[in-house]
Amino acid sequence: MATNDFESREVDPRVPSAARLYHYYLTGEPVFDADKLFAERVFARFSHLDTWAHHNRDFLGRATRFMVEQGIRQFLDIGSGLPTGGNTHEVARTSARDARVVYVDNDMEAVNRAHDLLLHQNALGTTAIVEADLRRPDLIFDHSETRRLIDIDQPVGLLIVSVWPFVPESERPLELMASVRDRLPSGSYAAMTHVSLDDASIEIQQQMASAAELYDETSDPVTLRSRAQFAALFDGFELVEPGIAYAPDWRPDQPVDVEHPARPCNFAAVGYTP
Ligand SMILES: C[S@@+](CC[C@H](N)C(=O)[O-])C[C@H]1O[C@@H](n2cnc3c(N)ncnc32)[C@H](O)[C@@H]1O
Repeated sequence: MATNDFESREVDPRVPSAARLYHYYLTGEPVFDADKLFAERVFARFSHLDTWAHHNRDFLGRATRFMVEQGIRQFLDIGSGLPTGGNTHEVARTSARDARVVYVDNDMEAVNRAHDLLLHQNALGTTAIVEADLRRPDLIFDHSETRRLIDIDQPVGLLIVSVWPFVPESERPLELMASVRDRLPSGSYAAMTHVSLDDASIEIQQQMASAAELYDETSDPVTLRSRAQFAALFDGFELVEPGIAYAPDWRPDQPVDVEHPARPCNFAAVGYTP
């Protein structure tokens, strides 16, 4: 598998990671005992996290399909996570057999599992997993696997779905995003989500904030951001309809449970580079 010249984060079964926890919320299958124990503590504080995770993952699928419908055939999925249902290359290829995907993650469990899946699917010719970090966009774009699969003169479908919460303000996310955006040719799309408390009830705000705080004990502490901070990540993009929405409300393909407590806790949007 493809590696890069930054400090590798080896798998530590004792310390839960965002990638492994999210996988557990989605599937109920823990990678390590420590993940399950930790996730149960998180659920005790915010019991709707599994639905929140499914809202997020389903948005990723709908955004990918939307981009395919706009003619996008090459995808860069940064912070792709452990492979599970609805992986980007599988979603894209249901209607675009020629779609190419570069997955990027800085979690070695995610990287190893993605590599195993792509190998098993005999998909490494048109899909790659790169161990790299959103905090080093240059290493992502200049990576040999990215260059092999992505023609940077053609529009790109960029996915950074629920990854910015793991990049603190001290890492200057707006500057990082600007540097990613500046690499994208005209006609590209970017899909992003971000956990937020802005529109939740006071009770849910308290529950989520307390669950997020627990992440200080993991390898990936969480930063919560406001709608305005999320919108700023799309600086230089034109938002496609409906603009910034709650994840389940973004171009839904099934009825939305508008009463669900997790619904307002994740902002989602897709931007376009004119
Ligand atoms: C909540 S999961 C989201 C997975 C997938 N994008 C989705 O939405 O279904 C967050 C992923 O981002 C990865 N991640 C966190 N910080 C990252 C960084 N600085 N660079 C690359 N990946 C990162 C984690 O390892 C994890 O796999």
